[in-house]
Amino acid sequence: MRHLLVFLGIAAFVALAFYVNSARHAERLPHHHQSPDAVRECAACREKERERTLGELRSVAYLEHYIERVINEGSRQNLGFAYGDMPAGMADAKAAPRIAAYVVTLAGLKPTHPEWVKEGHTFYVSNCGGCHGEDGRGVHGTFPDLTRVPMLGIERRIKAAMKR
Ligand code: HEC
Repeated sequence: MRHLLVFLGIAAFVALAFYVNSARHAERLPHHHQSPDAVRECAACREKERERTLGELRSVAYLEHYIERVINEGSRQNLGFAYGDMPAGMADAKAAPRIAAYVVTLAGLKPTHPEWVKEGHTFYVSNCGGCHGEDGRGVHGTFPDLTRVPMLGIERRIKAAMKR
């Protein structure tokens, strides 16, 4: 009788431990891994994620970030221009966000910081206009057109995101 009670006690403990453990796992799993519609729902999640990425890539904030990065790090993207690469540091890092604010206006877009445009214009003329032109339209085949929407480097990222 005592043995039976001990045995039942152990069995109850094991069952309880198993239950608690599986309940914890169930909490951690995302909902769609528990339903029979798993595959369809995951595809929908992926589509949503892609739409979000594409929206970001097409935003003015991303364009400003891209321009700033090109100024600071240069552009070695083989965009297909006779001049070749754009070297890094064509303007001071502090001027870069101001220049970016001005450059987006060349494409008719509204910058995140309109108050930077005037100063950005001055920097643009002395640091960028020599290659990309005062109007930003570049030189066909030699220097890229900065009024293009989307810019070539961003278009590549958009195409890559659409293939995902
Ligand atoms: C000496 C010439 C030269 C100067 C000065 C120069 N660039 Fe460039 N820029 C280029 C070339 C060449 C490319 C293409 C490089 C490549 O293929 O990756 C380029 C690419 C770019 C791109 C990417 C274009 C795209 O369509 O994706 C941006 C943005 C850009 N430049 C902005 C600027 C800004 C802003 C300045 C001023 C701070 C500047 N550049 C100064 C030559 C220049």
